Amino acid sequence: MIILACDHAGFALKEQIKAFFNSENITTIDVGTYSKDSVDYPDFAKKGVERVLESKQNVGIFICGTGIGMSIVANRNPKIRAALCTTTTFASLARKHNDANVLVLPGRFISKVKAINIIKVFLTTDFEKGKYLARLKKI
Ligand code: RB5
Repeated sequence: MIILACDHAGFALKEQIKAFFNSENITTIDVGTYSKDSVDYPDFAKKGVERVLESKQNVGIFICGTGIGMSIVANRNPKIRAALCTTTTFASLARKHNDANVLVLPGRFISKVKAINIIKVFLTTDFEKGKYLARLKKI
């Protein structure tokens, strides 16, 4: 399941991403926020983390203004590997090398088209395991 979380600065992009998934008949869980009213990103990062950890199959897409706040909060949980990605190459490497289970996007600094392309790569790229798994075990 895909878990969407955002603050007010990520709300517009989150809605566009949700519409994209709806158009593809892919179900998402949206933990909010649900409007442009100002909120605190840690509250929504924590809600998103909770849902992501319900299943190993789950993937999070978290969005705030820069993506930095969401990344900091999400990565405090030892089972979360959140990667702030602004290119498809980063999205690919975040999966291949880091087995990232949360993609973080900067809502104020990325277009919808770019975000969707990054999401597509993130969701279709596998972890390479091997030496990368050994490194993950050291975290
Ligand atoms: C909200 O103004 C902004 O600080 C937040 O979305 C995020 O960028 C924090 O890291």
